[in-house]
Amino acid sequence: MCGIVGYTGSKNAVPILISGLKALEYRGYDSAGIHIVNVGTIKRTGKVAELEKSLPAAIDGTTGVGHTRWATHGPPTEANAHPHADSARIIALVHNGIIENYAELKAALVQEGIVFASETDTEVLAQLIGKEFSIKKDLESAVRAALSKVRGTYGILVAAEREPGKLVAAKLGSPLMLGIAEDGYHVASDASAILPYTRTVIYLEDGEMATVTKEGYRIEADAGPVQKKIEELEWGVEEIQKMGYEHFMLKEILEIPEVITNTLRGRLLSDSAILGGLRDVLPRILKAKRIIITGCGSAYYSGLIGEMLIEEFAGIPAEVELASELRYRRFTMNPKEAVLIAVSQSGETLDTLEAVKEAKKHGMLTLGIVNVVGSSIARATDAGVYNHAGPEIGVASTKAFISQLAVFVLIALLLGRNRELSKIEGERLVTELRQLPELARSALSLRPQIESIAATFRSTRDAYFLGRKWHCPIAYEGALKLKEISYVHAEGYGAGEMKHGPIALIDPDFLSVILAPRDSVYEKTKSNMQEIRARGGRLLALTTQGNESDLFSLADAVLSVPLTHEALQPLLTAIPLQLFAYEMARLRALPIDQPRNLAKSVTVE
Ligand code: F6R
Repeated sequence: MCGIVGYTGSKNAVPILISGLKALEYRGYDSAGIHIVNVGTIKRTGKVAELEKSLPAAIDGTTGVGHTRWATHGPPTEANAHPHADSARIIALVHNGIIENYAELKAALVQEGIVFASETDTEVLAQLIGKEFSIKKDLESAVRAALSKVRGTYGILVAAEREPGKLVAAKLGSPLMLGIAEDGYHVASDASAILPYTRTVIYLEDGEMATVTKEGYRIEADAGPVQKKIEELEWGVEEIQKMGYEHFMLKEILEIPEVITNTLRGRLLSDSAILGGLRDVLPRILKAKRIIITGCGSAYYSGLIGEMLIEEFAGIPAEVELASELRYRRFTMNPKEAVLIAVSQSGETLDTLEAVKEAKKHGMLTLGIVNVVGSSIARATDAGVYNHAGPEIGVASTKAFISQLAVFVLIALLLGRNRELSKIEGERLVTELRQLPELARSALSLRPQIESIAATFRSTRDAYFLGRKWHCPIAYEGALKLKEISYVHAEGYGAGEMKHGPIALIDPDFLSVILAPRDSVYEKTKSNMQEIRARGGRLLALTTQGNESDLFSLADAVLSVPLTHEALQPLLTAIPLQLFAYEMARLRALPIDQPRNLAKSVTVE
């Protein structure tokens, strides 16, 4: 969603801010702007490229801030875009988050005669900071005084004409990091904006404020100055570039074999798993009477498989809750006997973060399965496992989803081997896990076939995705992928649910994608296919290699992936579904990496 960049140093800030804003585009936005200290502010609706085109040729300055806005308070207009200024135009502010008490603060400021230029909550904060700065000697005191009056969440970055080389950043509930480069300092809400310039970063924590000048930085919390750990970003700059691929989504799907290898690297024993991030809390997890998994969207669907894996291999009762529901629910279990696992690629999804905070408030042990190192959920949870999937830029989760499944297998294996899972079953899982990257490569080789199947179904308006047991969550995920990227109306169901309502829609125009690997529920899934066929519905079957001929007479098209352990099969069957969604969207010439209305990281409720 919204993104922040800032720079102060010896170089021209303009190209640095523009490249930072472009790097943040994947998060979703509808307008963008920059402010260069002692030069001015330029804002535009639409793409960063529009903003770039409208910059005067000679614009130059060594300190500035920039922002990509995803509209919440007021439509996406130039007036509502950031940076915002106070009426006297002595400060410029960019802000991520929401100022909850903005209406009452605004009413008081209007009473004092202040005229507002936008409808945003952010401008209220800009006016407050400007007002304080007219009476306080330095920018950081003014920011601190203004922030003491607001309620809500923020990551902010402020610049002022009176203190030209200085930036002040503050964080509460919205990520911000400082990048240390040889020629100066960067500030950003997302590592991708900093990565081309430096990998040396400092993550700000809630309640901290950083004062950054060309010469150095100072970070303070309420109790006074804080000594921060300097960290190195583990991602490489090529990982945030398309590297010749038409779309990030395709590049990221094709990376899946390597991602599985990276997720498993150093974590497999001959019959079990080692997860360094869980070592200290393992005894407490093993005593848990219930594991609650939470997340949103695809992360939630990975949790549905995680639930089955944990119950199947570790024998611990598990349940999955949507984070956007869990956070409002009453926690009835004994917190000492329950463990929460929050799943989030970005580590910034607000509902998931709030669910973690709620569980912590109740005294529960909280774990994270997170891809972005140093993200809010990674920091908020007591312990966890990183996915090591590398940056995911395409809005649709692909490689990160597969890596979430791989992490759940590792957790289930580790817990299982510490409980009742036999050595032989542990060895079998490990053996099959080691083969997964190669098998995933074989699943990816289906691409040309999927391209032509997508061409056959390109004008489809509606689709069901149906699967049983391990493949019920994959059916949900397949439907989500198709709808979000290709805008085809798609719904996922447990195949057994068909007869309880959905079958009413089947007719010769309706596509059903059936997940029918040769597993313990195969015959039942095949019956569902027969029922759809009998009603003239169109069928795309996804099965396992060697089983194709059993389905040719039933389906319009059959795809097959290699057969593996039943519990690992979803890691392979998800791949053709991602490719199918991708090819359908490509045929429709849609903006695959940034579909309409969607943002990569959902930081509002
Ligand atoms: C779907 C998708 C979303 C995310 C969801 C959670 O392709 O990407 O449904 O899975 O927004 O995001 P994270 O994992 O960042 O918490």
